[in-house]
Amino acid sequence: MSILVTGGAGYIGSHTVLELLNAGYDAVVIDNLCNSKTESLKRVEEITGKSVKFIKADIRDRAALDDVFANNKIDAVIHFAGLKSVPESAEKPLEYYENNIGGTVNLCLAMRDAGCKKIVFSSSATVYGGDNVSPLREDMPTGKTTNPYGTTKLYIEKILQDTAAADKDWSVCLLRYFNPIGAHESGRIGEDPRGIPNNLMPYIMRVVVGKLPELVVYGNDFDTPDGTGVRDYIHVVDLALGHIKAVEKVLGETGSSIYNLGTGIGYSVLDIIAAVEKAIGRPLPYKFGPRRAGDIDTCFSDPSKAKRELGWEAKRNLEKMCEDTVRWQLNNPDGYGD
Ligand code: NAD
Ligand code: UD1
Repeated sequence: MSILVTGGAGYIGSHTVLELLNAGYDAVVIDNLCNSKTESLKRVEEITGKSVKFIKADIRDRAALDDVFANNKIDAVIHFAGLKSVPESAEKPLEYYENNIGGTVNLCLAMRDAGCKKIVFSSSATVYGGDNVSPLREDMPTGKTTNPYGTTKLYIEKILQDTAAADKDWSVCLLRYFNPIGAHESGRIGEDPRGIPNNLMPYIMRVVVGKLPELVVYGNDFDTPDGTGVRDYIHVVDLALGHIKAVEKVLGETGSSIYNLGTGIGYSVLDIIAAVEKAIGRPLPYKFGPRRAGDIDTCFSDPSKAKRELGWEAKRNLEKMCEDTVRWQLNNPDGYGD
């Protein structure tokens, strides 16, 4: 079976391609490399001893997509390609709507015309908004997103659900990720963000390698046990393995489904700092600062539906997430390099 992975050179994509190869699938990757480098896929090939077919292409380029489907027998698509920075999306909403939503519609049109109607999509816990009380369940209301990035995820979910409702041959699996961190335990692939990171763990890693002086903890007056924000951090390899189960599902049946991919456990920013300090064996410099706009107190999943229906659950604990992130960062202080 051959799986087309859009955005497969990126952080979650590269870890998923690795697990697809390990599970015996062939992987064809398309990526425009706007936020990644092909080095990630070279290393996936090294680790697995298997090859990946890489095509540099943009999901908004219909002719390029038609070529991909004409020249490769694709059984299903895992769709990661998209822009993902929350602050950038607030500055450039049209670019986000065009890339994420326009790109997805273009991809689905090409899939439909090629007769490949099975898709797994990277959604986000951000679609739950701030009003629902954790643990978040898939049947809770969505819709109150606070930024254009989150809104693209919400709209794409709806577009894919409408597509599956209109044509019974489609099979759609929406995966709502919580907070992916960690890296493959080889220390060869991991997250390599450009510029100053927005998210907690990549920021901490810049402090660990001395590229940033200290972490600013965004607020210590949240309604949580220690006052700092609580999130559901999930090891990227567990997340990748969730995609293998989702691919099995879309290959085996039609219709649409939604699953949370999280651990079900909430950790605070101070818990993460303590776990990183244990992994590096020294204190991490940090100070408290004001809250970041849009941040909520607590967000963690109820992951029981994925366990029940997909037979998937996260197995790697916070200690392992931090050990693996630190190994990747210390082995590759400049990420994949220039
Ligand atoms: P990433 O930026 O590392 O990977 C996305 C990849 O898509 C990149 O390699 C980028 O070059 C590519 N891409 C972007 N636009 C493209 C286009 N028009 N055509 C072709 N390729 C394009 O991000 P990631 O963290 O691996 O995230 C993967 C997916 O998961 C994204 O859709 C993201 O929104 C979603 N997601 C991520 C998180 C997270 O915390 N990392 C959480 C929830 C959801
Ligand atoms: C953020 C996005 C969310 C997106 C998710 C995954 C916002 C408001 N939300 O969520 O839409 O789906 O990333 O990409 O941007 N923190 C610090 N200092 C830092 C960075 C973060 O204290 O330098 C804190 C935050 O306040 C939060 C926690 O760490 O409590 C996690 O932050 P982050 O990694 O950005 O993820 P989310 O806030 O969950």
